[in-house]
Amino acid sequence: MPAIAIVGAQWGDEGKGKATDLLGGRVDYVVKPNGGNNAGHTVVVNGEKFELKLLPAGILSPQAISVIGNGVVINLEALFEEIDGLEARGHDTSHLRISANAHLVAPYHQTLDKVTERFLGKRAIGTTGRGIGPTYQDKVARLGIRVQDLYDESILRQKIEGALRQKNELLVKLYNRRAFTVDEIVDYFMIYADRLRPMVVDSVQMLNEALDEDKVVLMEGGQATFLDVDHGTYPFVTSSNPTAGGASVGAGIGPTRFTRTIGIVKAYTTRVGAGPFPTELFDEMGEQLRTTGGEFGVNTGRPRRTGWYDAVMARHAAMINGFTDYFVTKLDVLTGISQIPVCVAYDVDGVRHDSMPMTQTEFHHAKPIYEYFPGWEEDISGCRTLEDLPENARNYIAKLEELAGVRISGVGVGPGRDEVIQIRDLIYED
Ligand code: GDP
Ligand code: IMO
Ligand code: MG
Repeated sequence: MPAIAIVGAQWGDEGKGKATDLLGGRVDYVVKPNGGNNAGHTVVVNGEKFELKLLPAGILSPQAISVIGNGVVINLEALFEEIDGLEARGHDTSHLRISANAHLVAPYHQTLDKVTERFLGKRAIGTTGRGIGPTYQDKVARLGIRVQDLYDESILRQKIEGALRQKNELLVKLYNRRAFTVDEIVDYFMIYADRLRPMVVDSVQMLNEALDEDKVVLMEGGQATFLDVDHGTYPFVTSSNPTAGGASVGAGIGPTRFTRTIGIVKAYTTRVGAGPFPTELFDEMGEQLRTTGGEFGVNTGRPRRTGWYDAVMARHAAMINGFTDYFVTKLDVLTGISQIPVCVAYDVDGVRHDSMPMTQTEFHHAKPIYEYFPGWEEDISGCRTLEDLPENARNYIAKLEELAGVRISGVGVGPGRDEVIQIRDLIYED
């Protein structure tokens, strides 16, 4: 019953999609447990590039059933756009299933996301503007609309009436926007209801039965540990729990059933949107990482902020998620850098911190303490074993492993599906 969670260890875009795709051919189910179309997972298969936002990258593995879990928020318009895009490219999506308990993003959520950001001014989060925060807000406030509501129109209408009573007050009186009518929201959802119906399942029952039958279930987290609403750099976070605990809730798989939690971590660090970032680079080296690493957001096209690897964050992420393994991506991007700095601790107002400081203020003041490791010049994209790597690259990986205190079981050396060094099996223990 392997139940494996793939979790971002930094601020997103670590290569979770690629890691999922790598395992996709060997698993029975791929579940997205959290987030929505704020994600952007790029997968390159035989030179062909796929950019997945709402769908799990598992959709590219035809023998695996792809599941949008109960913890996800779904924009139906975006969902069908993505499905149609894949079908037009000759990819079958009939193996997609959707939890009846997943929440729906309504047009008013998207409007509220944008106006709230504008209202925050200089304190804006830099959200993706997809309505993700407001939809999760309604879920917690018990004002949300769920997939199953589409199949009881009187319930749907009542729920939308309840939500709009509050939203329209906010939109009209506070944000000077137009009110939405109940009919237009009902109509918006009903356009998709019939097409969605055959995909809707009790995903929790389905996944747990699959585990009972010794099937392999992979959870493909969106976002990342430091964007987690509980454990991230609050308030500069998303509104879900993209950690291993969140995957348990968002897929409905109990924590005792998890066999592996795999942290995906870049060999350096990036971030999109606002918030603290101790190792951020503002010089030519930052630009080099951005250009070489292709660090531009899939979702919004924004350039990603770039910086050095932060081992304090890697240790913290390992602790919160109970990582059994790390998968380090984009090692190839560091090729040609003569000395590679790694942040091993922080200096916070003159005091050394080897672990994450307790408060937001301290983290904002954190200055990285670096150790420097010799780099390599050779092209490593063709390496398939650790032994193939230049000695300095091997030492760099060994150092990251030692600093994180978690074994590194895979290393990415290029964007392609096969551009990877597999150190140990990621599904079954050797
Ligand atoms: P995700 O959101 O965690 O799935 O990551 P993204 O897809 O947003 O960003 C990761 C980017 O790095 C994508 O463009 C991948 O194709 C690419 N990528 C993944 N692994 C590697 C790697 O090992 N080397 C290189 N050069 N690119 C990689
Ligand atoms: P993947 O799955 C990187 C960031 C946004 C913003 C904050 C809140 O591709 O790693 P939201 O729209 O979620 O309310 O925005 O979170 N963010 C991401 N950054 N990768 C992502 O997903 C992200 N999803 C959200 O930029 O700072
Ligand atoms: Mg991404």
